[in-house]
Amino acid sequence: MIVLGVESSCDETACAVIAVDDNNIKILSNVVASQEIHAIYGGVVPEIASREHIRRICPVAESALGRAGLSIGDIDAIAWTKGPGLIGALLVGSLFAKGVAVAARKPQVAVSHLWGHLLTALLAEPPVTVPYLCLLASGGHTIICVVEDLYRVRVLGESLDDAAGEAFDKCAVILGLSYPGGPQIDRLARKGNPYAFALPLPQPRGLNFSFSGLKTAFKNIVEKGKKQEPNFVERHLHDLAASIQKAIVDHLINRLENAYKQTGVCNIAIVGGVAANSYFREQLQALASRYHWSVHMPPLPYCTDNAVMIALGGYFKLKAGLTTPPDEIPTPRYPLPNI
Ligand code: KG4
Ligand code: ZN
Repeated sequence: MIVLGVESSCDETACAVIAVDDNNIKILSNVVASQEIHAIYGGVVPEIASREHIRRICPVAESALGRAGLSIGDIDAIAWTKGPGLIGALLVGSLFAKGVAVAARKPQVAVSHLWGHLLTALLAEPPVTVPYLCLLASGGHTIICVVEDLYRVRVLGESLDDAAGEAFDKCAVILGLSYPGGPQIDRLARKGNPYAFALPLPQPRGLNFSFSGLKTAFKNIVEKGKKQEPNFVERHLHDLAASIQKAIVDHLINRLENAYKQTGVCNIAIVGGVAANSYFREQLQALASRYHWSVHMPPLPYCTDNAVMIALGGYFKLKAGLTTPPDEIPTPRYPLPNI
């Protein structure tokens, strides 16, 4: 089955083509157009995101088909993101996908963005097998769950305030870095000492996450430092980046450890934009040998938002006979365990 995926939930306009044969996944193309324009505003502006999606969706889809060496007639189905996300942005992708589906007489299928992220663990080397304990850490969500089988997700905990990626981005703003700050903190931290500035380990109830206290503690360190030393941030930039990165990653890993102890599931996957963080990947790999975990991390292009994950969701839904009615609409809130 050949599936065209369309993703437009936030600030990435993305289309991808996959071919799946007996669960053997082949990625034929993966085109992601990131909307850099939001950097000047320090975050995503929803109305601008919608307009950018309108501008880019056709060329991105054409490019995805072209790189796959296919035309629309070769596609078996079109998958689009149902939510969660910015409603205007979602509408552009869904209407485009449904329009193409009607014109080309192909089935269309709506897919959860969050479930799509969970499925990217199948793209890890080695690919994950069910059941797996999955930590989804992105700009909008931080969720820990057990993927019992690909269609059944049991949520164990989630963030009570900011998402992990949001914490990276907000702390980057405190350091005067532009949006999105996560990748910049990752890069700067490589030359820094993660133990230079002590930050607390958040301990919200159960297997939940909380990042707002960390952000405040970090802000206090920076403000106090600036009072004592005017160019405090410039002088300690690498150490500050390494310290906040360690604090965020320690919290994520602590929850994974606790979730493992509670469930006994030792297939561990991390997905979402924050799963691209190099320190997180290293630390997780280091811990894996202690607990005999089998760790599965998708290649970097499939951690951040992409349409391969939506195409994958489309494939698995159609395979199970889960069809989408023609009048299905996207929704800004579409929490797991919805798929
Ligand atoms: O999954 P994603 O592309 O979009 C959402 O679904 O939200 O995640 C984007 C988030 C941003 O907050 C970004 O700063 C963060 O992932 N991110 C990173 C890294 N790459 C992306 N955070 C830390 N280190 C990275 N290397
Ligand atoms: Zn995402």
